Amino acid sequence: MSGACIVTGAAGFIGSHLVDRLLASGQRVVGVDNLSLGRRSHLAQAMRMASFEFRELDVNDYDKLLATARESHARHPIDTLWHLAANSDIQAGAARPEVDLRSTFLTTFHALKLAHDLQIPHFAFASTSAVYGVQKGLLTEDGGPWFPISTYGAMKLASEATITASLERHLRRAWIFRFPNVVGSRATHGALYDFIRKLRKNPSELEVLGDGTQEKPYLHVSELIDAMMHLRERAQDRLNYHNIAPRDTVTTVRHMAESAVRLAAPGARIRYTGGDRGWVGDVPKFAYSIQKIERAGWSPRMTSNEAVERALQEIATENPA
Ligand SMILES: NC(=O)c1ccc[n+]([C@@H]2O[C@H](COP(=O)([O-])OP(=O)(O)OC[C@H]3O[C@@H](n4cnc5c(N)ncnc54)[C@H](O)[C@@H]3O)[C@@H](O)[C@H]2O)c1
Repeated sequence: MSGACIVTGAAGFIGSHLVDRLLASGQRVVGVDNLSLGRRSHLAQAMRMASFEFRELDVNDYDKLLATARESHARHPIDTLWHLAANSDIQAGAARPEVDLRSTFLTTFHALKLAHDLQIPHFAFASTSAVYGVQKGLLTEDGGPWFPISTYGAMKLASEATITASLERHLRRAWIFRFPNVVGSRATHGALYDFIRKLRKNPSELEVLGDGTQEKPYLHVSELIDAMMHLRERAQDRLNYHNIAPRDTVTTVRHMAESAVRLAAPGARIRYTGGDRGWVGDVPKFAYSIQKIERAGWSPRMTSNEAVERALQEIATENPA
């Protein structure tokens, strides 16, 4: 793959892995991030490459974004805008919905405006299982209507809708990737990261939100990026929308907590705060159908538990005692 692209949220957990993979595939990459949740250190490898430019700016500071992107676009025409910038602090969004409005929806609105103003034809978007809300059975892409139960999920669903509307106006093609829970190195949030950090602070007890029965699919970030790259290359409908997940497996919070304790602080007592969900807007149980992505020629290799075990090792190494 050659050509040039923009990645918003480039210094984030997933964005930085995507940047590394795009660079390795021979693309020029302009990475944009306001570093509100991301880390410059995640881009250490990318920064060494002449084909990478990093711009610290807010996607919602539209005039600055346009000026910066226009200048890069004039030198190397941008073919794809990968939009990953969003609020990943789900609990902050639950407490203050305006965080999700600004960071999750308005960033999509401005990224689409940029694609319009610079005539960038392709738009690839990091969506989420949270758009589905609470559903019975396997989540399939073509059911609906969907009723999200978090502002985060609502803002992602509104983003998806604004993308489909943009296909009528200016975009040539779009990809909507509905991620499950993603785990792996460079994580800065999520249950596994929290467990390791808490155990580093207090090796005798681990507090776990909820009763431990929450049950979801976990995908390793390396597999997520494989799937995104595969779909970007091979799925060539005007609108491409896919669940991405491990094969038919989920992991319970109890399993994750016990694995974290075994790895980081053997013998620590696990204290559950109770209730079947971790926070307001948490969907306690879900599982994805991956038939559609398998028909598109991509299959996961790891189970959810294998992804969790590998990610725990990586996070523990990155956050030593
Ligand atoms: N991690 C998961 O399990 C998961 C699951 C489903 C969907 N997603 C989606 O994947 C994407 C990446 O998530 P992540 O886990 O890497 O989170 P992350 O917080 O590590 O990455 C998001 C990045 O966006 C940046 N950002 C936020 N607002 C910005 C703004 N206004 N302007 C510029 N940059 C801004 C942050 O600084 C951060 O670096 C997000 O869109 C998220 O909603 C993640």
